[in-house]
Amino acid sequence: MSRGRPRGPRGGSVPPHGAVLVTGASSGLGRECALELEHRGFQVLAGVRREEDGEKLLAESHHERLRYAVIDITDDASVRASAELVAHRYGGLRGLVNNAGICLPGPLECIDGEQFRRQLDVNVVGHLSMIRAHLPLLRRSHGRIVNVTSGLGSAAVPFLGAYSAAQFAKEALSDALRRELAPTGVRVSVVAPGAILTPIWTKVSQAGERALADAPPAVADLYRSALQGFLEGNAQQAMASRTTPEDFARTVLRALTDARPRARYWAGADARRMARTARLLPDSLLDRTFRAITAQVGAPAGTDARP
Ligand SMILES: NC(=O)c1ccc[n+]([C@@H]2O[C@H](COP(=O)([O-])OP(=O)(O)OC[C@H]3O[C@@H](n4cnc5c(N)ncnc54)[C@H](OP(=O)(O)O)[C@@H]3O)[C@@H](O)[C@H]2O)c1
Repeated sequence: MSRGRPRGPRGGSVPPHGAVLVTGASSGLGRECALELEHRGFQVLAGVRREEDGEKLLAESHHERLRYAVIDITDDASVRASAELVAHRYGGLRGLVNNAGICLPGPLECIDGEQFRRQLDVNVVGHLSMIRAHLPLLRRSHGRIVNVTSGLGSAAVPFLGAYSAAQFAKEALSDALRRELAPTGVRVSVVAPGAILTPIWTKVSQAGERALADAPPAVADLYRSALQGFLEGNAQQAMASRTTPEDFARTVLRALTDARPRARYWAGADARRMARTARLLPDSLLDRTFRAITAQVGAPAGTDARP
């Protein structure tokens, strides 16, 4: 993305003080968001899990307003250290963008307890730990929390059951927090991206193959063909998507700077459509829209079970 002269958010003035912390900034949407917010005049603390990713980000930053910190949101000591660093370095926090995430796909029959816990640990529990640790700083600055969810926080798609469960949980957490924190001046918004081409899609395909490899062979055989078709379709959808990481970063910027931040923003027409469809359609019709994904379940690989 070409970043010209720095401008204030939505043409307004650049925020006067305090930093925005973006988790999962080593890659994809978080990386783009950290660079864009820096460009727009924010002091940015980019959360990464490896020093070398932080150094790469620094090399791409042009305004000397971006720093990085090594933060694993599932590690309590790391989360505490992040809050101490922010307090020491910035004295307050204008925004916390809870973006880090993983996606473990697979039929729920193939997702064992450890995988399911890991999915929830990163995408839900880790974010709540970050929020709890940074709330005193956010209160001091009347700051904002932006929780990144997904179109799958409104509808549970087959073969993404664990990920959808985490996104539904993060949506619920965001609604409750928004209501709890309203009296304190801390505003909470959700940003739900649709499909956007980032490294997550390669990781999803690899994790799907691992889920099949780890499942008992008879179970894996039931789902292999359908899951592989689904993963290929997903990757193609992401490649064809017209929503970009830049669109996502601009949506986060709005959530951080709108005079009256909305409860929910969508980055991508598909995410908005998914939420609307899930709200309007009865379950029986919603089930029908997803039937094509599971049409091959039970079919031996290489055969077409569709009518
Ligand atoms: N791209 C899409 O189409 C899409 C659609 C809907 C929602 N989303 C959501 O958007 C967010 C960003 O996705 P993305 O596409 O940018 O994925 P990505 O490129 O895979 O980036 C994920 C980021 O999360 C970090 N992360 C993973 N586990 C972490 C942990 N325990 N602690 C701290 N950071 C951790 C990763 O760090 P490492 O590099 O160290 O692993 C990486 O920086 C995710 O929450 C995802 O669910 C994405």
